[in-house]
Amino acid sequence: MITKDSFAEISPYDFSSAVFKDIAKKWMLIGTPDTKKGRVNAMTASWGGVGIIWNKPYAVCFIRPQRYSFDLAEKCDKIALSFLADAENSREIYNICGTKSGRDTDKIKETGLSPIDFDGAVGFAEAETVIVGKKIYADMIKPECFLDESIIEKSYPGKDFHKIYLCEIEKIYVRK
Ligand SMILES: Cc1cc2nc3c(=O)[nH]c(=O)nc-3n(C[C@H](O)[C@H](O)[C@H](O)COP(=O)(O)O)c2cc1C
Repeated sequence: MITKDSFAEISPYDFSSAVFKDIAKKWMLIGTPDTKKGRVNAMTASWGGVGIIWNKPYAVCFIRPQRYSFDLAEKCDKIALSFLADAENSREIYNICGTKSGRDTDKIKETGLSPIDFDGAVGFAEAETVIVGKKIYADMIKPECFLDESIIEKSYPGKDFHKIYLCEIEKIYVRK
């Protein structure tokens, strides 16, 4: 059985990852607890990143307000980004978590994912890497702040601007 002990904890400064490929091409899951329904939700994400700000390592993700995960993430102090092992064979899981909503679907039941508590954030046993971060800055993307307004037409025809969640990376867990 895979538990948190099946993962080694590494410092962000020792973390090497093909971050562009991993996020944009392989994708990741944002897990959130759904206490009302007594279960966990998982949402596929392919926009995000990692870096350094305020001398802190951070992970950033972007969630549109209409996602069920938005309401759940709003209630969390921490967010975990889970990168599934064998992304190609996990495509079905990513597609379910990226097209169905936790509002009306138990995605954990449907995908067979096994949630694991990572220091108060929701990660998954099927992950090869789990980045756990504490939310330190959040704001809605504002249309008036775009310097390239063509992005608004392309990415926000519905004016459903993402919320940015900047999270200080507390731990990075890598499967042993
Ligand atoms: C490959 C892929 C990447 C996605 N990336 C994001 C993202 O970064 N931010 C976002 O808000 N939605 C993203 N989505 C859409 C959500 O995953 C999708 O709307 C999901 O059904 C939301 O689930 P929820 O309602 O349970 O939160 C993505 C979907 C796919 C398939």
